[in-house]
Amino acid sequence: MDMDKLVSLCKRRGFLFQSSEIYGGFNGFWDYGPLGVELKRNIKESWWRDMVTGHDDLGQPEGAPSPYEMVGLDCTIIMHPQVWKCSGHFDLFCDFMVDCRESKKRYRHDQVRGRWVSYRDRRVFVATAVEDEQQLENVQQRALKFFNLRGKNAEDLLWETDLVSLTTVPEFSQVLGPDAKEPGTLTEPREFNLMFKTVVGALGGADDAAFLRPETAQGIFVNFKNVLDSSRVRVPFGIAQIGKSFRNEITPRNFTFRSREFEQMEIEFFCHPSESRQWYQYWRDRRYRWYTDLGLAGERLRLRDHDPEELSHYSCGTADVEYAFPFLQPGDFGELEGIAHRGDFDLRSHMEGKLAKDENGCLVVELGPDGKPRHKGSGRDLSYRDDLTGERYVPHVIEPSAGADRATLAFLCEAYTEDEAPDENGKMQSRTVLKLHPRIAPIKAAVFPLVKKDGMPEIAQEIYRELKQECNVFYDEKGAVGRRYRRQDEAGTPYCITVDSDSLTDKTVTIRDRDSLRQDRVKIDDVVAEIRRRIR
Ligand code: GAP
Repeated sequence: MDMDKLVSLCKRRGFLFQSSEIYGGFNGFWDYGPLGVELKRNIKESWWRDMVTGHDDLGQPEGAPSPYEMVGLDCTIIMHPQVWKCSGHFDLFCDFMVDCRESKKRYRHDQVRGRWVSYRDRRVFVATAVEDEQQLENVQQRALKFFNLRGKNAEDLLWETDLVSLTTVPEFSQVLGPDAKEPGTLTEPREFNLMFKTVVGALGGADDAAFLRPETAQGIFVNFKNVLDSSRVRVPFGIAQIGKSFRNEITPRNFTFRSREFEQMEIEFFCHPSESRQWYQYWRDRRYRWYTDLGLAGERLRLRDHDPEELSHYSCGTADVEYAFPFLQPGDFGELEGIAHRGDFDLRSHMEGKLAKDENGCLVVELGPDGKPRHKGSGRDLSYRDDLTGERYVPHVIEPSAGADRATLAFLCEAYTEDEAPDENGKMQSRTVLKLHPRIAPIKAAVFPLVKKDGMPEIAQEIYRELKQECNVFYDEKGAVGRRYRRQDEAGTPYCITVDSDSLTDKTVTIRDRDSLRQDRVKIDDVVAEIRRRIR
């Protein structure tokens, strides 16, 4: 599929516009037009219905260790700044970082130092992340090893500089990373302070700084106790939230795929630690199925388990639902959703303070230079007491975290089709059609009078008004009927209802199926029930 064609359709038909376009646009921000807003709302509503309101709290879904409950939340975008300190976003999002593709280690760009050295005709920058005194020694040893020299040949090395910061090196192809065996494995520095800062209140001092949330998840964690105390949920249960998130992405790109303002659909699922692996497996499969059920059924969709070295420090399992977006290289996939086993990291962080791994790999409160917690937690008890067994514990969390905009983009890419359909004279014509699942299609049905006379518009308008009570319907009486069909095909409308001369006598209309092009005659009295049945 040609991405340019989809981008042009999205603009032409009102799915997506560049934000502030009349002022030249604003990089990383997108507006949804009249059709786009319906599509995205339908995706979010399908998610909410399938995950929350339509979930059967009493039954045990296939693959789930037990029945479970689901509730929702709608939290603020701006929260207490301490939330982001304890969650780790404040520290982790605020520096330029470089990653090593070989060792999978991440370094603060300005904390890596090294020296330029040559031997014969080869020149490298030998980098080290080792602290103070040992830096020179470490660089020398690694340089010898790299050039395959013994200690007695140390004088053959030509050192060009003293230790200098990696920030003085414009390009990394000749940089031997601190834990790498070959040069050129460090990525470009990336700024990780992705949080948008704002000021709360009129004075605007440093103490008034706050952040736009970079994820909806933290609102759920900090309300965990409120939900427990106000509803009668028992572990295992999930809390869902849909809402805007903001990240000051360094390189927003690929249409809406990486935006600076986007919407997330997140679930934090709380369970007993002993069952958390089974629940992780359940959610991993359940969330993948949600996409296939809504039409991402082809081989462009995949579920990929992370390698152990890709996992966050607190996670014992993560899988991504990924889609082979047309703007990626062949064979590459982009993330639609991550399903992560987060252990008790989040609840403990908000109880005790920001956590970090100690030398034994255990999560402990991270201490500042003064020996006190680097970021103090709330001090609230966020453990759970099982009133049947009397056991008290901090639940483990499984987090399926999806992006509404990326899902919308993937559904659009998958739906975009060019094929042929006959015009009103039976002649085959090429057409562009969005084969969207009826549940998410912006308009469910269009109603046309074949001609604008003989009482046909009156019948069509009556059908239109009746159907409007059920779903989003469009009425169109302008132009040749073939062109009207084409416009609806491009908008992804699954059904077109046409009132023709037979309708005047036998009280029937045709319902045309967008994908099969089949036309069924249906009694006018049955149209609403028939459309209701088909779009479910
Ligand atoms: N709470 C976990 C979390 O936020 P994430 O992988 O950073 O995890 C989850 O984000 C989802 O949010 C992604 O899978 C993606 O669909 C969406 N997302 C993240 N950053 C995005 C961006 N800059 N633009 C659009 N969607 C984004």
